[in-house]
Amino acid sequence: MSDVATTTTDSAGGTAVERTAIDRSVIDRTGEALVLVEGLTKSFQHMGETLEVLRGIDLNIYGGEVLSIVGASGAGKSTLMHCLGTLDLPTTGKIRLAGEDLTSMGNARLAKVRNRHIGFVFQFHHLLPEFTAVENVMMPGLIQGRPKAEMEKRGKALLDEVGMSHRGSHRPGELSGGEQQRVAIARSVVLGPKLLLADEPTGNLDTATSEAIHQLFFDINREHGTTIVVVTHNIAFAKSMPRVVTMRDGRVIQDDRSDNDAFRAPANAEATD
Ligand SMILES: Nc1ncnc2c1ncn2[C@@H]1O[C@H](COP(=O)(O)OP(=O)(O)OP(=O)(O)O)[C@@H](O)[C@H]1O
Ligand SMILES: [Mg+2]
Repeated sequence: MSDVATTTTDSAGGTAVERTAIDRSVIDRTGEALVLVEGLTKSFQHMGETLEVLRGIDLNIYGGEVLSIVGASGAGKSTLMHCLGTLDLPTTGKIRLAGEDLTSMGNARLAKVRNRHIGFVFQFHHLLPEFTAVENVMMPGLIQGRPKAEMEKRGKALLDEVGMSHRGSHRPGELSGGEQQRVAIARSVVLGPKLLLADEPTGNLDTATSEAIHQLFFDINREHGTTIVVVTHNIAFAKSMPRVVTMRDGRVIQDDRSDNDAFRAPANAEATD
């Protein structure tokens, strides 16, 4: 892919922030958006009361986009991510992913869609402690019955991409927190998902390590064209992304695209900022 990984400064809230311009040639604006969310609501029953956690979300995400979701604790960010990731079902509303209606299919189909199209990175890496780094990266493929040799090749290549090839034989307990998260990111993309969902992926890491991990998401987007949605409380990281979606009380209250003009331009247009 091309190397349009420049940073530009942008004045937001009075402070200059570095925005990472993603390679727009990976954004697919032809046809339907990769993710279409329409009138999404989610309520929980808790001790006889109905808690309305998502109150009508509309959101379109195009293939190849990188965006952040921000908002105060309790705004519904993780709940939205769980619905997008098919880990939980919405109460009402629609979600389409890659042309398939996620709200009208049974569990077996949902699991298939999840395995084929979605990768997850969480705040806590959930690596399997008794397996090595490379085995952890291979695991989603092995579970699906893919050939071991093929998965090992992919696992090693991905560990190399995330700067971890020298730690492939380490178990999670023999890795630092940042290294564990790099392995988790490699694992999340091993089956080539179209959509990568990350919920506070650096919430547990120090600043320098976080910054290196943040860069990794942009690298993965550029290298593989993966669409990436990141929930974060790190405002600098959020604002470094070309699109920032802000939630409050179960609603999207703001949806900022820093590259609006480029977004409307043809895919092969020169970056203008
Ligand atoms: N299973 C559940 N049952 C009842 N209430 C829930 C459930 N899951 C989440 N909630 C409530 O829904 C609200 C939104 O939760 P959610 O985890 O989506 O917030 P969030 O925006 O991710 O917050 P944070 O930034 O703290 O992670 C919270 O008030 C939470 O208590
Ligand atoms: Mg959360």
